[in-house]
Amino acid sequence: MSGFVSFVGSGPGDPELLTLKAVDRLRRADAVLFDDLSSGPILGHARSGADLIGVGKRAGRASPRQHHVSRLLVEYAQSNQRIVRLKSGDSGLFGRLEEELIALREAGIPYEIIPGVPSAIAAAAAAGIPLTRRLSARRVQFVTGHDISGQLPEDMNLLALADPMASTVVFMGKRTFPKLYEALHAHGLPGDTPALLAEDVSGPHQRLTRLTVADLADHLRAGIGDAPALILYGPLAEG
Ligand SMILES: C[S@@+](CC[C@H](N)C(=O)[O-])C[C@H]1O[C@@H](n2cnc3c(N)ncnc32)[C@H](O)[C@@H]1O
Repeated sequence: MSGFVSFVGSGPGDPELLTLKAVDRLRRADAVLFDDLSSGPILGHARSGADLIGVGKRAGRASPRQHHVSRLLVEYAQSNQRIVRLKSGDSGLFGRLEEELIALREAGIPYEIIPGVPSAIAAAAAAGIPLTRRLSARRVQFVTGHDISGQLPEDMNLLALADPMASTVVFMGKRTFPKLYEALHAHGLPGDTPALLAEDVSGPHQRLTRLTVADLADHLRAGIGDAPALILYGPLAEG
């Protein structure tokens, strides 16, 4: 008889941002497969004796390929009762969730998805910024700054992303932002549009840097460091 998989969004890193359901599933899990950004104190909620398996794609280790992670998940689910698949933020946002869902469906393994606090929402809260504004930001857009090969995606909707009346959040975009900025500027985004570089949100090294988009592109050209980061731009005035 196969087990049951709970996909659990761990939030941005601060264990106090876990949901009650996330904590419950962690306490009851026989095995927890976790990403790098979902490690640390969050794993303290797992019961002692549970298998804790890191399947992350960072931290200087060779990245396990996604099909390997999906296969591992299926194998654990076939031999354990309760599995937690822990992903940072919300599992459904830039988390390669669909590949793992397909693998479970093909293997006939039941699952549930527990939402988590997305890092983008936590970043706005940490900076005291509402992502929507009644008159100046009626739209929010989340995009990834890199495609499967690590490059700036070629099919980005630059007109939408250059709209100064929308709040935009770029995930995984530190390395490619200087190139993205050039394209956005060419599509009309003013260089003095407010931007926020939000690093290690809710973590011990959280850093929030307010710049313009033009200055942020220069700043990132000079170096990117390795903290996880989001780039927010648009009508980002405080309060
Ligand atoms: C694979 S994506 C997963 C996003 C996640 N599902 C979410 O809802 O936040 C990883 C990227 O999310 C962003 N991210 C996740 N946690 C973060 C944090 N604590 N601080 C800043 N950025 C974070 C970074 O852009 C990072 O490279």
